[in-house]
Amino acid sequence: MINIVVFASGNGSNFKEIYIRTLKKEIKGIIVLLISNNPKSGAVKFAKENNIKFEVINLCRFKNSLDKQYEIVLKKHKTDLILLAGFMKKIPKNIIQIYKNKIMNIHPSLLPKYGGKGFYGSNVHNAVIDSGDSYSGATVHYVNEEYDKGSVIKQEKVKIEPSDNSKTLAEKVLIIEHKIYSEAIKIFCEKRI
Ligand code: GRF
Repeated sequence: MINIVVFASGNGSNFKEIYIRTLKKEIKGIIVLLISNNPKSGAVKFAKENNIKFEVINLCRFKNSLDKQYEIVLKKHKTDLILLAGFMKKIPKNIIQIYKNKIMNIHPSLLPKYGGKGFYGSNVHNAVIDSGDSYSGATVHYVNEEYDKGSVIKQEKVKIEPSDNSKTLAEKVLIIEHKIYSEAIKIFCEKRI
């Protein structure tokens, strides 16, 4: 079994989807821990309700030792795979080096388009709508030192209708996110990547 640690800051819909698929054994891995910077997030709420272990790691708690704290906690849980699922903080270099090709992220656009610093949440979908593109989509990629620049594992597109706005587009893209993130994790856990 692959030990999975999920990092999430927000609603946690990707986290929930992945968790359910591990329970159903569609993904041959086990979520051993949720790490969040935000104790009030939907992700932490879900972890509490479902008895999933979680740790709140943020600057309030670990002012001078944040990077080391991630390392300690990840080692303690014998982490095989790290999943960023709406995590709003940069992953420090020490973690990227130790877990090379073992950290994935989901991004709500067809990278390399609309990626990099500042492209998160509704910023992404607003930019896509303003561009007049016919398609958007989601991308699963490995995480390296640069925002949204690691190699692409999976991508799927979705058609943008003239009636779409950033909110309806975000909803459509989120459905794709849940699907392709689960598929990518599944093949990683089966060592088919
Ligand atoms: C998703 O759109 C994901 O692509 C981005 O952050 C959002 C997280 O959504 N990285 P949720 O918290 O999983 O619902």
